[in-house]
This record gives sequence, structure tokens and C-alpha cells, in this order.
Amino acid sequence: MSLPCGATIGILGDGQLGRMLASAAARLGFRTVSFGPGGEHSPAAQVTGRHFAAGYEDVAALKAFAETCDTVTVEFENVPVSAAEAVIAAGTPFHPGPNALSVAQDRAMEKRFLEEAGILCAPWRLVDSLADLEAAHAALGPDAILKTRREGYDGKGQVRLSAGSDLAAAWREIGERACVLEGFVDFALETSAIVARGTDGGVAVYPPSQNLHEGGILRRSMVPAPISVETEQRAQALAVRLAEQLDYIGVLALEFFVMQDGRLLANEFAPRVHNSGHWTPEACATGQFENHIRAVAGWPLGETALLYNAEMENLIGEAAGAPVADLLSRGSLTLYGKREIRPGRKMGHLVRIRPL
Ligand SMILES: Nc1ncnc2c1ncn2[C@@H]1O[C@H](COP(=O)(O)OP(=O)(O)O)[C@@H](O)[C@H]1O
Ligand SMILES: [Mg+2]
Repeated sequence: MSLPCGATIGILGDGQLGRMLASAAARLGFRTVSFGPGGEHSPAAQVTGRHFAAGYEDVAALKAFAETCDTVTVEFENVPVSAAEAVIAAGTPFHPGPNALSVAQDRAMEKRFLEEAGILCAPWRLVDSLADLEAAHAALGPDAILKTRREGYDGKGQVRLSAGSDLAAAWREIGERACVLEGFVDFALETSAIVARGTDGGVAVYPPSQNLHEGGILRRSMVPAPISVETEQRAQALAVRLAEQLDYIGVLALEFFVMQDGRLLANEFAPRVHNSGHWTPEACATGQFENHIRAVAGWPLGETALLYNAEMENLIGEAAGAPVADLLSRGSLTLYGKREIRPGRKMGHLVRIRPL
């Protein structure tokens, strides 16, 4: 089913990804409605035609929201699956689908799903107690990362372990919650492959970027990544395989560690547009936001070939406080409309392109 011109697309979530999805949708003539707890000043609410300021548990508000929309999508993977189900119960199509959300929300389910799809991950173990942590650390350590199964993002919900780490202290620090322990991966670099999959099962894949993180937060993405064409194609093929296994509609991102020998280990996937694809609107004929909107609308997907070398730099915290003339001189500027600068908060990004 494809949406007619001028139809209304609902976005669950009210952050910057929703804002950029709504802008792409507006360009194609769609109306947009956002839903989230952030209120009228949230990044998405500022640019959508209507905003429902409510919590994701508010079934009545979700029903009212769904009834104003021809289709609904998400910009935030931790939207409770029950919210997606409430949208579907109101009779409104929901993409990418509750299954992709529930798999992505739990690191253990996510790793099992990836491995069952034949996509290798870093070595990992379930950790539900201090005793589990001790056993897992003995098996995978000493260098390892303890991660909460649920609700981690931008490096939050993680504790780094090394030789001699106090495991009892780490277990307390993580909040004694259901976790996974991952062996620390001595990667050559990090990359991600972003794929759009349409309602007809057709796919469009972006060239993988090199991603530089600091303190668990993405700082920069560069394309093309300094990896072989063969590695690039493998990363793309694995992202396509994941999208197919999830019967996914929309854009998803699969993050990898690239090892010295070219092996790819999957880190995690995001069932949504992704920060490591923020260069795509400037460097490709069709950006990730537009392709996500096209996919959920049942429209044909657009070209994803690279037209320029590109570098994306996140403006995090005080980096966004530089004089605006300075920011504008450094690249193509996108600001998310957040009023308050806070440490570690993603405020905007810059994209620089150069001819290939
Ligand atoms: N097992 C690991 N080995 C080495 N580095 C890791 C590992 N897990 C995470 N990291 C580093 O931390 C970053 C954030 O971790 P990630 O699991 O992707 O969490 P988030 O959900 O916060 O993005 C990764 O991009 C990578 O740089
Ligand atoms: Mg990540």
C-alpha cells in the first residue's frame, strides 16, 4: 500500500531524529504529527504540524494520535512495544514493526538474533548476578564491558572492566540490573551500514562510514571509510540480511567493529535513522530521512550512491555554543532546536563535503 500525496505520517518520539524525519516528510508534501513526553519545545514538536505531549504509556493519547495518522513510525528505539501495539490496535499501520523494536531494546535478544542470522558479534555472556559477572569476566576478560540489557545509549549504562577491576563495585555501579558482559574488542575501526527497505522488499544501502566515538558518544563519521571494497560490500550485505530477517520496513543501521584482518563483528543495530548517517542528505541524492519516509509511505526508494566525500561532526554540549558565524564557516549546519546546552547533549551537527 502506498500513501497518497498529502497523507499524514505520525512519529513516535520527539527528538532530533523526529525533527529531521518530519522535515524530509514535509519536503515530499506529507503532513506530520509527533508524539512524546517532551512537550511543545522538543526538537520534533517544533516542526511537526501537531504534537501530542504525552507519555508512551498513555493509551488514550496514543489512540488519539494514531487516529490522526495514515501511518506511524518511530525515531527512538526505546519506545515501549506496548505503544506500537496501541497504534496498531487503533487500526493505523506501524513501521518498522513491534518485533524490530523488541529485539533492538534488549542487548541479549539483539545479539541472539544477529547470531542466528549468521552475523558474528563480539564474545558475550548473560549477567544476572555478581556470580554471573565473576564467571563471565573470568571467561571473557580481563578487558570487557558490562552493559545493561535495556535502555543504554550514547555509552550510558556501561562499565568498562580491566585486570584487577572490582567486580562487586562494577555490579553496584550498573545498578544490579540484567546485563551482558562483552569482551573488549581491539578493533581497527568502527563502521556502520545503513539500509532502507521498502514495502515491496526492495533495498537501498548507503556506503558504510567510518565512525569515531569518544566516551561512548559518536563524534565524527567519514565516508568513504578506509576499508576495502570487499569489506564494504560485506557490511552492506549483512545489513540487508538483517533487514530481511526482521521483515523490516524503513531505515535501519547496523554498527560493526572492523578487525585488523578485515573481519566484521556486529556491535548493535538501531531500528531507525542513525546518527552515523547524518551526512547522507548532503552527500547522496537521497538522504536517510527521506528514504525512511519513502519506505514507510510505500513509495519507491531513492538513490544512495555516494556523490561526494563527506565528513559529519556532531556538535555535542559546549561545541554548539561557538559563535554561529564560526559554526557556519565550518560546514553545512543542522541545529536541533534544543534550548539548553548540557554536557554530552547532541545539539546539532556539521557536514563537510568534497568532490570524490
Ligand atoms: N565490546 C566492545 N569493545 C570495544 N569497544 C566497545 C565495545 N562495546 C562498545 N564499545 C565502544 O563504545 C561505543 C558505544 O557502545 P554501544 O554498545 O554501541 O552503546 P550505545 O548503545 O551507547 O551506542 C561503541 O561504538 C564502541 O566505540
Ligand atoms: Mg552504539
